[in-house]
This record gives sequence, structure tokens and C-alpha cells, in this order.
Amino acid sequence: MPIDPAAPILMFDSGVGGLSVLAALRRVLPQAPVIYVADNAGLPYGQKTEAEVAARVSGLLGRMTERLRPRLVCIACNTASTIALAAVRDVLEVPIVGTVPAIKPAAALTQTGVIGLLGTEATIRQGYVDRLEAEFAADKVLLRHGAPDLVTAAEAQLRGHPVDQAAIDRAVAALRAMPHGDRIDTVVLACTHFPLIAEALGAAFGPGVRLIDGADGIARRIAWLTRDQHFERRAPDLALFTRDEAGLGELSSALAASGLGRSDVF
Ligand code: DGL
Repeated sequence: MPIDPAAPILMFDSGVGGLSVLAALRRVLPQAPVIYVADNAGLPYGQKTEAEVAARVSGLLGRMTERLRPRLVCIACNTASTIALAAVRDVLEVPIVGTVPAIKPAAALTQTGVIGLLGTEATIRQGYVDRLEAEFAADKVLLRHGAPDLVTAAEAQLRGHPVDQAAIDRAVAALRAMPHGDRIDTVVLACTHFPLIAEALGAAFGPGVRLIDGADGIARRIAWLTRDQHFERRAPDLALFTRDEAGLGELSSALAASGLGRSDVF
């Protein structure tokens, strides 16, 4: 059956982090209708157990794909992807694109051979990350740091609050303090929230350190998977939240800047 041109791409994260992936998608597929889902009732995923994240993500995506009928689902969250991508793919019939730490491009770029990786505490302990390291960075030093405060900082920044400089400085200092940390020249932003505060992170690392994330690669992958499909936006794109909360109003300009003209609670 041909795909309805108005069928959306569903982009999913625990919070506003996936907006960094949506920005990349807008650059390659501006005409694609999108429903952005933030599981703010479950935020932060990075402080949950693997079982909690897997159950939550599979359950929610199951209900959402049934109700919203997307043509493709993008899990725009490293924590959810590194824990639950395989399980979600097993149960859903719709194509799923995940987000995994950009260790491969980082290994190709580093000159010093020392790579930093900032993610959530759940992401940095995943076997998925061990496997990427073994496959692409076995001859490099990969220093991992879990920085839940940076998720909070990004959520606050998109609500119009000033960037939490102390949280940024702590994360940078933690990586620099590890053995070989002074030689880091490439940092993988392995949480989709972190590109949203890349400017402050880049300034704190200083010149000579390159920050990389997977958003452009994900956007290209989505464009490739939908290359033969037609897109038609019949209504403004929608942002859905899993819980109503006082701060949602503060997000309206960030959502509008991401092309999300309507919002609702799922
Ligand atoms: N944006 C999510 C990620 O990419 C994590 C945020 C959270 O802890 O929920 O890992």
C-alpha cells in the first residue's frame, strides 16, 4: 500500500534533546511532516535502570505507532537507543532509526588518539558503547563521563533560562582529570541534549577540541530510507508530551523555532 504523503516521521526522546536531531532532519527533509514526542513524564532516562528504560520505550512507542501511524520512527535519544533499539525493532513493524554515539567518526578525526565521550550515566555503561569502542576505537583512548546535569542544563536553556555554567565546567573538568584527559581533541556528544548546549561546551573545552554528534548522519539515514516517498504537510507539525507541566509554556519559542507549531499532551 502506498504511504500517505501526510504520514509523519515520529521523532522520540525523553525531553527536548531530540530537537537537535530534528534540526538536522529539517535541513535535509524540510517538507517532511513530523510529530515530535517528548516523554517528559519519564525524564531523565539516564538515571533509570535498563529494564525501566526498555519497558517504557517499547510500551510508549507501541502505543504511539498504533495511534499516530508514522511512516518511520526515529529514537532521537542515545540512552533509549543503546538500551532498547533491538527490542523495539523486534516488536514494531515500522522502520526504526536509532541514535548511537558517534565513536566511529570521532576515531577517524582524532589526531591525539584521545577521545572524550559525554553521555548519560545509563549510556556510558552500555555494552553497545563497548562494542563501538572495540570495533572503531580499539587503538584509541576513549574516556567516558556520565553528565546528568547537562541534560538538566539543556532542558533549562530551551526554556529560556541561562546556561548552567557550573554544570558545564564540572563535566569538562571531569574528562580532563582522567588519565590522558589533557590530550582530548575530540569529544563525542553521546546524548541528544548536549548539542543544544554545544556553544557553552565548546567554549569550556577551548580551541583545539572538536565536538561531534550523530545528528547529520541520522538525518541522512532517514532521507535515504524515505527516498522514494512523497511528503505533504497538511497541518502544522505537532509536539506531544507525556505529561502536562508548568514549564511547558516556556518551551513555546524553542518548539516554534523547530517548526513545531502545535503542542499537546499524549
Ligand atoms: N536525550 C537523551 C539521550 O540522548 C537522554 C536524556 C535523559 O537522561 O533522559 O541520551
